[in-house]
Amino acid sequence: MVKGEFLYEGKAKKVFRTDDPDLLLIEFKDDATALDGVKKDRLPDKGILNNHLSAIFFEMLEKNGIETHFEKTISERGMLVNALEIIPVEVIVRNIAAGSISKRLAIPEGTTLKKTVLEFSLKNDELHDPMINHYHIYALDLASAEEMAEIEKVALKVNDIMIPYLKDKGITLVDFKLEFGRHKGKILLGDEISPDTCRFWDSNSGEKLDKDRFRRDLGGVVEAYREVLRRLEGGEGPAVEGKS
Ligand code: TMP
Ligand code: ASP
Repeated sequence: MVKGEFLYEGKAKKVFRTDDPDLLLIEFKDDATALDGVKKDRLPDKGILNNHLSAIFFEMLEKNGIETHFEKTISERGMLVNALEIIPVEVIVRNIAAGSISKRLAIPEGTTLKKTVLEFSLKNDELHDPMINHYHIYALDLASAEEMAEIEKVALKVNDIMIPYLKDKGITLVDFKLEFGRHKGKILLGDEISPDTCRFWDSNSGEKLDKDRFRRDLGGVVEAYREVLRRLEGGEGPAVEGKS
């Protein structure tokens, strides 16, 4: 696979063309940002860990019937993916209140939601990814009703697959963000699935194993990502006592 023209740089990834027009190369950077890029740092090895972790999640989801853009890992930081026409809607799935929903609706962090919550945001950094609903999505022609039905079905299925998979590794899936795109008439799950885009809590201690360690200056960010990888790779339980 030949690395082609540089296409686009996001906050955490670079995207390149390849010699196959249907495939793109994503390279995961070590950069971390929060607060729409106001807070910035370089976290050595974060990109390597997120490349690896995203590949594990995408492969696991593919095995469980989810169609994703993932093709294969090709280097420490690089994965080949299907080229998508990105739908500029971020889909957030919440099982437990944390982060923005806790602030917005005054729900204490850690409160289990009686029903899984789906939220949508317009993917637009300048506007700070504002929350939108179906009316906005159709009014702005971001996606069709048929596409949204498919996206919601897949997002909830991803949640149903990820919860027990992670629970088995001593990790509670609090919430996560997904992005989707069109490829040859199909909707595929895109972007990444990593501790940058999910909230993972240790099931026993409640310790945060995700980007909230960076957002909230808790330290040990890369160590936490490494711990998630250790648990996913080892198939073994957490390095704590008392796991039932
Ligand atoms: P929030 O509570 O800040 O709205 O975040 C909800 C989930 O979405 C959380 O798992 C982190 C993830 N997320 C992203 O992946 N990118 C973003 O830009 C934001 C704000 C959140
Ligand atoms: N999208 C946010 C930013 O880069 C990051 C986050 O909070 O996840 O500012």
